[in-house]
Amino acid sequence: MCGIVGFIGMPVKGTLITDSLKKLEYRGYDSWGVAFLSKGRIESFRAVGSINKIPKKIQEISSNLAIGHTRWATHGRICKNNAHPHLSSGNDITLVHNGIIDNFSELKTRLSGNSFNSDTDSEVILKLIEEKMDSGSDLLHAVSFAVSLLKGSFALLVFSSIEPAKLIAVKNESPLLLGVSDKGIFAASDQIPLRNFTDRFVFLEDGDIALISKNSFECFDFSLNPVERKIIKVESNVTSSGKLKYSHFMLKEIMEQPFVLKDVLVQDKKNFSEISFLIKKSNLVFIANGTSFNACLFGKEFFSRIAGINPRVIEASEFPYELDFLPENSLIFALSQSGETADVLDSVRKARKKGFKIISMVNVFNSSLVRLSDKVIYLNCGEEIGVASTKAFTSQIALLFLLANSFAGKFDSALIELNSVSSLMQQAIDFNLDSVKALSAKIKSFGDVYFIGRNLNYAVALEAALKLKEISYIHAEAFQAGSLKHGPLALISKGIPVIVVAPKDKVFSDTINNAIEAKSRGAFIVGVSNESNEVFDFFIKLPKVNELLFPLVSIIPLQLLAFHTAVFLERNPDRPRNLAKSVTVK
Ligand code: AGP
Repeated sequence: MCGIVGFIGMPVKGTLITDSLKKLEYRGYDSWGVAFLSKGRIESFRAVGSINKIPKKIQEISSNLAIGHTRWATHGRICKNNAHPHLSSGNDITLVHNGIIDNFSELKTRLSGNSFNSDTDSEVILKLIEEKMDSGSDLLHAVSFAVSLLKGSFALLVFSSIEPAKLIAVKNESPLLLGVSDKGIFAASDQIPLRNFTDRFVFLEDGDIALISKNSFECFDFSLNPVERKIIKVESNVTSSGKLKYSHFMLKEIMEQPFVLKDVLVQDKKNFSEISFLIKKSNLVFIANGTSFNACLFGKEFFSRIAGINPRVIEASEFPYELDFLPENSLIFALSQSGETADVLDSVRKARKKGFKIISMVNVFNSSLVRLSDKVIYLNCGEEIGVASTKAFTSQIALLFLLANSFAGKFDSALIELNSVSSLMQQAIDFNLDSVKALSAKIKSFGDVYFIGRNLNYAVALEAALKLKEISYIHAEAFQAGSLKHGPLALISKGIPVIVVAPKDKVFSDTINNAIEAKSRGAFIVGVSNESNEVFDFFIKLPKVNELLFPLVSIIPLQLLAFHTAVFLERNPDRPRNLAKSVTVK
């Protein structure tokens, strides 16, 4: 999704903005741009593609007021004219936007006398501001007028050469925060690009307008009534910034899972018992998207097997259609690494309107989901930069296991057991580091790869398939192993890789029978287990671990398989095409 960054303060080099934009690359983008106030004029630069070659004029510029944008196209094709920042017809107002304006066609009709340089919804916002300023309004009132007409999600940064001492930030559903530093005041979509400059943040709320000068800020609602927003000091939860010795963030994040688990398990027992108490008297409903949704499937299984309750799991994009049929005592448990996923936020807002309480499990401190929740569990797994979620997934599983045990009065014993898994996760890496790379050299040439498993192992198969498809672009699909003969067997032809997630648990022998079904029709069987078997053509060896915690070890070699396959196919595992780390639009 789009990323935005802005600054007002002492004069700085143009590359400060482009360097900050690069730290937002993980959000996914297809074009970018920057605008600076320089010698009383707005200088802007936009380009399709990556922020790699920084033009000389940006390297040489010095400015005290600037905005930047990485665009993940929603309205309007990928081209330079649709890239942000947008400029007013007088070249004296500029704007960047992250979000989707639902009523932009209606507003564009209202602005029919204007000429537009782009086919974006964002330029409509700029035209509304320009129209108001042309009729004598100052920038703040013009922005207030414009945003009061908008419907949808928007995080905006706006400045004008007519009022050069002001930067205006607006937040509504899309993420936006301020960073207060010694150089001046930043605004950005998230904390990551600002960490090198400050640990003091202002978390804007939906419906906020911030009027920012080089050393102060004021916040208002859209009608310009003042609102109070505090500066919050945020300890960095980064296990370590940068890729360190690894080629990609994704590889670093896969490899650090065993020791990150120790940080993840530093939790407040009282928080877990308070959440358990809330769950005891409720109808528990998990909601999430993507990998976090797959993690919820483990939560369901843990709560039914350990806590004796049977929660529902609903994809966040489907939740609004289920909302009216939920029992009154429902408790919504939202999982989201970023805490900014639009479908999750939208569902949580709707659930709150119905009076449901919200629990969330989040990695990013004070993200939008946190501020919509009654209780929060932080993953504490450090920043996850790779678009494909890895360490957040194993962290979610571990904490859901801990919570189910906390509910059953077994928090302490579960904590000890989980801490002991850390070395077993390292074994899962050590046993397979080279062999999985060799397997990926084979897998890469297939157009289809299937994953099968039963019960908890089916959820591992789902997550492994998502990893492979989203970074290698190979069609990867997971099936319940027992469902093969009800249709998917038709897909099996000679040599097709079928990856069988089959640790030695209660469903092992049934799953082996399914592997035999596939093999007898020509499949190449990859066994993921702590026990080899003659049906396996390739063996991914796992250490032995408590049946319920096998997913913490079985998923790791499969994350590595996806990573190496993508690299062999010369994809960029950190920034796969068409995807974003934080899906901030519905
Ligand atoms: C996972 O590898 C994907 N990048 C994606 O499915 C992701 O899990 C999903 O968008 C949810 O993100 P969240 O956990 O930040 O809400």
